[in-house]
Amino acid sequence: MSTVKTKIGSGHESDAFLVEDAKLGKSVELASNAKTGARRVMWKQKRQLAQGLVLEISNLNNPTYRIPKTLAVENNKFSLEFADAEQVTSELFSSLPQQDKNAVINGLANFMRDMHHLRPIREVGFRGDIFAASIADIAQGHVSPKDLKILKKAEKDLSGLPEGSEVFSHYDFESDNVLYDKKSKILWILDLAESNYRPAYYDFYSQYFRALGISDELLNVYKNLPGADKVNLDFNAEKLMLGDDLQDYLEDADITNPTDLIKGIVSKIKAAKWHGGKTATLSNIVEGGGIMNMNDRRIDRDDY
Ligand SMILES: Nc1ncnc2c1ncn2[C@@H]1O[C@H](COP(=O)(O)OP(=O)(O)O)[C@@H](O)[C@H]1O
Ligand SMILES: [Mg+2]
Repeated sequence: MSTVKTKIGSGHESDAFLVEDAKLGKSVELASNAKTGARRVMWKQKRQLAQGLVLEISNLNNPTYRIPKTLAVENNKFSLEFADAEQVTSELFSSLPQQDKNAVINGLANFMRDMHHLRPIREVGFRGDIFAASIADIAQGHVSPKDLKILKKAEKDLSGLPEGSEVFSHYDFESDNVLYDKKSKILWILDLAESNYRPAYYDFYSQYFRALGISDELLNVYKNLPGADKVNLDFNAEKLMLGDDLQDYLEDADITNPTDLIKGIVSKIKAAKWHGGKTATLSNIVEGGGIMNMNDRRIDRDDY
């Protein structure tokens, strides 16, 4: 028996080994990296659910992307088709010729459209309160009364933005899970273990797609695909991105130092791209941005 096993990757939850068999060729063995039995059981359950999704998507036979097929499941290990390709990091992506960039964007848009239509598209409409801590409360006493008023209004307006549809989504887009082979021009999408409902906005403007700089193009390509009109894409990405950036910032910020905290918040707001790429100021976020008062149209999101 001549089988060679080499570790080729490790994600958040799994280790992957390339298995090269003289007779059977190449495959990947995926195993849980969990130390405890309970976590391994959970890992297996998630992977089994993902396996069902892989089958559903594979049956669509969309030629613009591929998903590794499951070859066998035994002893808490999954044997998968080998995706012989490189991780699409920002570095790799920026080095690709335009044609390959288009192939990646087109494949991702197709995959997203397919994924979104696997389960009913839900109408959500408006995001609820997005900030764990109130920016305005933290800012109290640290900024001028005028700036405090602006912050309060910005916070209120960012919390009532339309999000468009909620869609069934991959939910774990990152360079670990998106591979591309320049020679064969094949885009591989891995790891459906985190699939779940998410606002459509997140699928296009995830940190990963933003880092690749492809969010707007992805959305445009997607909009022209058959069936995409069933998804309500009526969201203001720039404002929602700012809301997410502020939320991320607040989650890790040192709230024992309000002065620096407020400086950080203001710099995030100022760095936000606003209307045609103009740099925003605190006040044009609120006024120039033409943010409508959504409160009377807002729906309660506690029920999901
Ligand atoms: N079929 C495959 N072909 C090639 N590499 C794979 C394959 N499956 C997994 N890998 C590698 O293993 C890593 C972890 O697998 P993944 O399914 O993403 O699990 P995790 O849940 O740990 O992120 C991937 O990022 C990739 O590098
Ligand atoms: Mg992964």
